[in-house]
Amino acid sequence: TDRYCVFGHPVGHSKSPAIHAAFAKQTGEDIDYTAIEAPLDDFVGAWRAFVAEGGRGANVTVPFKEEAFRLCDRLSERASRAGAVNTLILADDGTTHGDTTDGVGLVRDLKRQGMSLAGARVLVLGAGGAVRGVLEPLLAESPASLVIANRTAAKAEALAADFRDLGKIRGGGFDDLAGPFDLVINGTSASLAGDLPPLPDDLFAEGATAYDMMYGAEPTVFLQWATERGAHGVDGLGMLVEQAAESFFQWRGKRPDTAPVLEMLRCSL
Ligand code: ATR
Repeated sequence: TDRYCVFGHPVGHSKSPAIHAAFAKQTGEDIDYTAIEAPLDDFVGAWRAFVAEGGRGANVTVPFKEEAFRLCDRLSERASRAGAVNTLILADDGTTHGDTTDGVGLVRDLKRQGMSLAGARVLVLGAGGAVRGVLEPLLAESPASLVIANRTAAKAEALAADFRDLGKIRGGGFDDLAGPFDLVINGTSASLAGDLPPLPDDLFAEGATAYDMMYGAEPTVFLQWATERGAHGVDGLGMLVEQAAESFFQWRGKRPDTAPVLEMLRCSL
């Protein structure tokens, strides 16, 4: 049995053990996947101890993604762009490789919903770590344009500048937002507090999709607001399952079928 885990603090709420147990069962892989609360002041020590006990890989969640990025011996292109790592892979030579699967998880979930990103006018709300982590895979789909809007406009502008070589991207504040957009992705943490960024009413194009990276038993305030304005609302539960599937693939070389696992999670919310 190969051991994997998710590191977080806190980590008790994590759905990753249930997701990976379902993937393992489905693919016949013999793995054990647990949740480990790493101490805030010694993430590196927690990873080393896990490896010493036979750990082969790990997922990393809040607040350790940047620390995980720093400890890696080698990084995937998308992880080095993201400045964060959510997947640690122990290589056969004992070195640690880092990847981030959040962005590809988002893109796969959007495609699964029938959304075509090529040529789409895309707006991303927020300019923190969650947004930085998904920009490279989004730009790789060749949207017509990608606008980042943030409460602190300067952060959105700086973020856009970091990715300018990859596509048509610009950043700004909420007040100079001009739609319409085919896809609006909420990557702010505003939903956690039940807040809604100040957005204009005419944001959505005909048939637009509103995507919240958060999820819950009830639609977030952003999704409520968006569906009232005609957009098709999607929450981030599918992204969670898709990023897990990509991590599983990085470790085991097998792609699980995500649909039944998503359905199981949806029922348990
Ligand atoms: P994460 O890792 O989740 O991205 P973060 O790096 O702290 O967390 O970023 C949080 C993002 O949510 C930021 O873009 C933040 O805006 P600021 O850069 O202006 O702080 C945004 N955010 C948080 N609370 C918000 C709110 N109530 N309204 C609008 N934006 C909010």
